[in-house]
Amino acid sequence: MPQRIDFTEETSDDVVQASFARTPDPRLRHVLQRLVHHLHAFARDVELTQDEWERGIAFLTETGQMCDDDRQEFILLSDVLGLSMLVDAITNRSLSANDEVTASTVLGPFHVVDSPPRGNGDTISLVDGGEPCLVTGRVLGSDGTPLPGALVDVWQADERGFYDVQTPERTPRGNLRGLFTTDDAGRFHFRTIVPAAYPIPHDGPVGRLLQLTERHPYRPAHIHFIAGAPGHHPLTTHIFVAGSDYLDSDAVFGVKDSLIKEFPVVQADPPAEGADLPLPFRHCHVDIRLDVAR
Ligand code: BEZ
Ligand code: FE
Repeated sequence: MPQRIDFTEETSDDVVQASFARTPDPRLRHVLQRLVHHLHAFARDVELTQDEWERGIAFLTETGQMCDDDRQEFILLSDVLGLSMLVDAITNRSLSANDEVTASTVLGPFHVVDSPPRGNGDTISLVDGGEPCLVTGRVLGSDGTPLPGALVDVWQADERGFYDVQTPERTPRGNLRGLFTTDDAGRFHFRTIVPAAYPIPHDGPVGRLLQLTERHPYRPAHIHFIAGAPGHHPLTTHIFVAGSDYLDSDAVFGVKDSLIKEFPVVQADPPAEGADLPLPFRHCHVDIRLDVAR
């Protein structure tokens, strides 16, 4: 007969870990046992009180209640705790160890799976307003080989810091989004507007957490990309507008130096891709280097 051990502060970790010992899936068993280990160590470390535990449960309950098909408050919580970026760093460890490939960063909640396919040179800005901007880019392998036929999914906020899905009353669906295919030389380009910095959704429990801890909810101005090509790892990343506010205090820790790009004003001598654009406009060039699939 197995021997029962009294549940005490000292034995709690062992007792609860043992309860998971017969979990058939070895990965699930490992993750659960390590979770218990760290949770119990955390509670002992901070000497968690009953009252604090109840407040924590109420907070998590509210976080769950805030979630629906359009709002994922748990992911936001993970984002502001830096967990999303940590999981991204672990998942893409080989990228961060490799200067030759573009750094990854969080997906965020505003990506849509059905980004409108567009042709090179198209505009993704479907309404008036904002500072005109040309984005040119290439998708390359880690050795610099151009990747023709690569898919580049792009999405960004507008000049007021809103995504199309946040302002259905004034912006059509698909505004500031597009799915591009690179040409024979691995190039893509599109017209857009310069995005603004914006706050992550902060009208829920995560916003309250930020307020209580005197953290702001803002992200620096950025454009999101997912790039994919046969034989290569798909990459989720952003480029950040150099000089934007909040580059040093992104609410979700997504900024990496290598992803900060200049968006200079073009007053004369436009690049070939912008030859027919009225001057002046801002221009950003981005090379996205993908790691080979292993
Ligand atoms: C975003 O950049 O779209 C984003 C990322 C994480 C949380 C909220 C928004
Ligand atoms: Fe964003």
